Amino acid sequence: MKILVTGALGFIGKSLFAALKKEGYEVQGIDLVIADYDDYIRADITYFEDVWKLFKDNNGFDMVIHLAGEVGRLNGEEYPQRMIYVNEFGTLNLIKMCIEYKSKLVYFSTSEVYGTLFDEKEVMEEDFNVLSPTKVTNIYAMSKLFGEGIVNHYVKNYGLLAVGIRPFMVYGPGVIASKYKSAIDQFIYNALNDNLFTVHKSSERAWCYVDDFVNGVLTVIKHHEFKEKNYETYNIGTQEYIATEELAKLILELTGKPYDLMRVVELPDKFISGRKRFFNEKLRKLGWEQKVPLREGLMKVIEWYRGMM
Ligand SMILES: NC(=O)c1ccc[n+]([C@@H]2O[C@H](COP(=O)([O-])OP(=O)(O)OC[C@H]3O[C@@H](n4cnc5c(N)ncnc54)[C@H](O)[C@@H]3O)[C@@H](O)[C@H]2O)c1
Repeated sequence: MKILVTGALGFIGKSLFAALKKEGYEVQGIDLVIADYDDYIRADITYFEDVWKLFKDNNGFDMVIHLAGEVGRLNGEEYPQRMIYVNEFGTLNLIKMCIEYKSKLVYFSTSEVYGTLFDEKEVMEEDFNVLSPTKVTNIYAMSKLFGEGIVNHYVKNYGLLAVGIRPFMVYGPGVIASKYKSAIDQFIYNALNDNLFTVHKSSERAWCYVDDFVNGVLTVIKHHEFKEKNYETYNIGTQEYIATEELAKLILELTGKPYDLMRVVELPDKFISGRKRFFNEKLRKLGWEQKVPLREGLMKVIEWYRGMM
């Protein structure tokens, strides 16, 4: 099977690309950077010519795993036009070529699409009868929900075969910490550098180590049954819930730093959910299970940051 991975140089893209290769798939990666890596070409998904040429030169793909895009809550609030433009136009360009070449599409959405539903219940793979642009809490979620809407439209009306992935709190080595990146990256980076850092009160998450997440994606592409006119999604993440205050303490313990580096602050009243509880039975029924416990995964990330110092 010949697979195109968009966003192949991103945090998840890099691991997914390597895992697909290891599994014996023929893989082509694209991203924005000019580089002469094996099986990689520079292509901007918002340039239809780039996407058109990519499909033409490769005589299409059996599957497109579409990760490329503008990512993150804060990024979306600071650069909303860019986020909407890249995530919608880029997705549309890929959809057009997937239909032309009969490529299956694996669309990367986000857990953020559930928005305020997290305040009401443990979410399942809710569909468009339940999800709503009035329930999401940030532009990033809006761009991904609209992206899912576009994919669903082309599935229902134009014969596209597609499945959606909703990742929950993926972490692992390789991310450069900043205010745009995850709490785990910020906590570890600041702890190792003896910087004070803030931690949200009343916040709780279940984190998923990148290898487990990538296995989740492999599980979906191997076992999901693509059906005509049927757009389905999978929550991919673990059920190892931890309060964010406890996560910060654990990171301070594992890095050997004092608890007084953390400052507990109120959860912001917008753009973010307190708890994100969800079901992942659908993925587990396909044979997936968590392999890397949080403590073990955190140690790998801490070692990676230490190697960067
Ligand atoms: N990391 C998570 O926990 C998480 C959670 C929910 C959803 N996701 C989704 O998973 C996907 C991958 O996330 P990630 O954490 O690896 O993010 P990332 O930012 O590391 O990777 C995204 C990649 O897309 C590339 N890109 C951006 N615009 C592009 C364009 N116009 N053309 C081609 N490439 C472009 C970037 O250069 C980058 O390498 C994204 O779609 C993201 O929304 C991730």
